[in-house]
Amino acid sequence: MTVEQEHFGELDHPPRLLMGPGPINVHPRVLRAMSVQLLGQFDPEFTQYMNQTMALYRSVFETKNRWTFLIDGSSRAAIEAALVSSLTPGDAAVIVSSGRFGLLLAEIAGRCGARITMVEGAWGGVVEPEAIEAAVHRARPRLVACVHGDTSTTMAQPIEAIGGICRRYGALLYVDATATLSGMPVPVDAWGADIVTAGLQKCLGGPSGSAPITISDRAAEHIFKRRHVERGLATAGAGDAVGQRIASNYFDLAMIMDYWSDKRLNHHTEAASMLYAARECARVALEEGLPARFARHRLAGRAVVAGAQAMGLTIYGDPAYKMSHVTAVEIPAAIDGERVRERMRCDFEIEIGTAFGALAGKVWRIGSMGINARKDAVLTTLAALESVLRREGIGFAPGAGVDAALAVYDGATPA
Ligand SMILES: Cc1ncc(COP(=O)(O)O)c(C=O)c1O
Repeated sequence: MTVEQEHFGELDHPPRLLMGPGPINVHPRVLRAMSVQLLGQFDPEFTQYMNQTMALYRSVFETKNRWTFLIDGSSRAAIEAALVSSLTPGDAAVIVSSGRFGLLLAEIAGRCGARITMVEGAWGGVVEPEAIEAAVHRARPRLVACVHGDTSTTMAQPIEAIGGICRRYGALLYVDATATLSGMPVPVDAWGADIVTAGLQKCLGGPSGSAPITISDRAAEHIFKRRHVERGLATAGAGDAVGQRIASNYFDLAMIMDYWSDKRLNHHTEAASMLYAARECARVALEEGLPARFARHRLAGRAVVAGAQAMGLTIYGDPAYKMSHVTAVEIPAAIDGERVRERMRCDFEIEIGTAFGALAGKVWRIGSMGINARKDAVLTTLAALESVLRREGIGFAPGAGVDAALAVYDGATPA
C-alpha cells in the first residue's frame, strides 16, 4: 500500500444540494432501504420483493403490463436492452429526436444494426406528429423510438399522437421516460407505448444504477420470438432456441423476463441493494400520490422559471413544451458559466447543471426533481444564484428572484 492509499479517508464530503438535471439528492428512506442486509437471489423473501417491485412500478408507469421490472444499470442500460432486444439487424426504425438523448437512441439503434430514419426537430422544440407520421409511412418501421423529456434541451415531446401512429402502421413504440417518470404523467397504457424505460436518479429520487422498464404483451411476444436459453442452463423441455439470437447477453430481455418470471431462470445476480432502492422510490412516490407529485414538480419548476426571469435571465426553449421540472437558463453574454457553477458549488454547496453538445456553454440547467422539488431547495438555489450573479456584475433588484419564486409558492402568480 502506498502512503497516499493509507491516507485515503472515509467518504466525507459536505452535503451538497444537487439542483442539476440529475442525479439529485437521494430520499432518506431510499438511502435507508439501501443499507438493508442482502438476501440470496432465490430466497422466497427476495423473490417476493421482486414481485412487489413489479407491482409497484405497474402503478408508477400507469400500466397493466405484466412485464414491468428492473434492468440493473443506469438508464441507458434499459434503453440498450429495449432496442437490442426488439430490433433485429436490418429492421427499419424511426427515431424522433430534438436533443442529445434522441441522438443517443439513434446511436444505440444503429449499433443494433437497424436501418434508421431520423425525424429531427430543432433543439429547443419538439417534433410535429405530422412529420413523424410521414416518416413512419415511408419507412414502415418495426419500431419508433423517442424521448419523452429530453434533459439536454428540457423539452417534453408529446407522446399521445405517436402511440396512435404506431398502432395504425403496426410499429412498436419505445419511449425513454428516464427524466419524467413520477415527475410528469407517463401514462404508458393510455399512450399505447410498448416499451418505456426510466432511471431512479431523476424524479424518482434514487441513485443511478437501476432502470425500471415496462413492456406490453405485444412487444414481449415479439421479443420472445428470439428466446435462447443459455446453454449451461438448458434442461430437457427448455424449448428450442428460436429466431436470430439477441446480440447482447446482459441486455437480452427474453432472458431477463425469464429471470423475473415464476421460472426464475438464472440470468444475472439481481443487484439487491438497487432493488431495495427502486422499491422504496416507488413506495415513496405512490404514497405521495402521482397527481400530487406531478403538481409539486410543476410548482417547483414554475418557481425556478419565475425566479430566473426576475433576475433578468432568459429561459431557453419553447415554453409550450418545457418539462415542468428542468429549466434551461441562458447564460448571459460576457459571463463565464463555469465560474458561476463553481461559485455555486464552492460558496453554497449547490450544484446546477452544465450543458452538452450544441448547448455547451450556452445554458445552465436547473432541476427541481424528486425530494428537491421543494420550496426551500428552490429558494436557496435562487438566493445563491442571485448572490453569485451580482458578484459577476449582473444588475437587478436584490431579492428579486427569491421574491418572484415566493410569489409563485404563495399562489400570487397564475399557473
Ligand atoms: C432523457 C435521458 N435519457 C437517458 C439518459 C441517460 O441516463 P444514464 O446516465 O442514467 O445512463 C439521461 C441522463 O441524463 C436522460 O436525461
